Amino acid sequence: MSQPLAGRTAWITGAARGIGKAIAYKLAENGADLALTDVLADDLAATATELAQMTGRKVIQQTLNVTDQAGAAAFVQRIRKKLGALTVLVNNAGITKDGLLMRMSQIDWERVLHVNLTGAFVCTQAATKPMMKARYGKIINIASVVGVMGNAGQANYSASKAGMIGFTKSVAKELAGRGIRANAIAPGFIETEMTHQLSPDVREAYIKAKQNRRLSQRRLGHVRHGKQSKKDHRGSLAS
Ligand SMILES: NC(=O)c1ccc[n+]([C@@H]2O[C@H](COP(=O)([O-])OP(=O)(O)OC[C@H]3O[C@@H](n4cnc5c(N)ncnc54)[C@H](O)[C@@H]3O)[C@@H](O)[C@H]2O)c1
Repeated sequence: MSQPLAGRTAWITGAARGIGKAIAYKLAENGADLALTDVLADDLAATATELAQMTGRKVIQQTLNVTDQAGAAAFVQRIRKKLGALTVLVNNAGITKDGLLMRMSQIDWERVLHVNLTGAFVCTQAATKPMMKARYGKIINIASVVGVMGNAGQANYSASKAGMIGFTKSVAKELAGRGIRANAIAPGFIETEMTHQLSPDVREAYIKAKQNRRLSQRRLGHVRHGKQSKKDHRGSLAS
């Protein structure tokens, strides 16, 4: 199998399980070395061992909350020492705390915004320092179809993912001139441990939102930015 990512190092947040683990596996299969973080220490250690054995790539891992600014900066230093230049960041860590608006506590609102949106800001800021020096980097933010469409019972989660899309577009515009590309991916419903927690109503609406997503993408279109018009430096919302 060809290895287009050979010599690249990718940091994936929330990599212990689910979508983050699957992304990490794919990146390693394509030749990237991996830097994995999560708050679930045991699952993360098991995933790191499994992916190193399956792919033969170098894998480092660290228990790290995405909202820990000092921890993220220190981890980027560790990546440089152990694996070399960091070239790919996948902001994947996320949580849900669903509830109807009238019953949603401010704590649940803030918790979701903090992890999903502030966490992406913290890790992006840490990762872009070496990327700016190298004038090369790829940032991939895992948003959600509900960040585009909205979903009853998920005001906090939808707002965090919509915020992530705006964040991605701004980062893409700001850093295009430094050779750094930022994209958001807005998946629909994917069966993981996260979706096991969804109520039947939210689950059904999520699946419907997935079906409607193509329409919303056409409405949003792509964001072009900076001086370039090359496809390679386009910030976009992809599915
Ligand atoms: N599953 C879906 O249907 C779906 C759809 C669209 C988007 N997404 C997004 O995909 C991403 C992955 O979701 P998943 O379905 O694999 O869920 P998951 O719960 O299986 O995985 C999320 C991971 O993030 C980690 N995490 C949570 N809070 C963290 C924190 N503060 N710091 C570091 N790590 C933390 C968790 O421990 C977990 O390992 C999330 O951002 C989610 O919002 C999921």
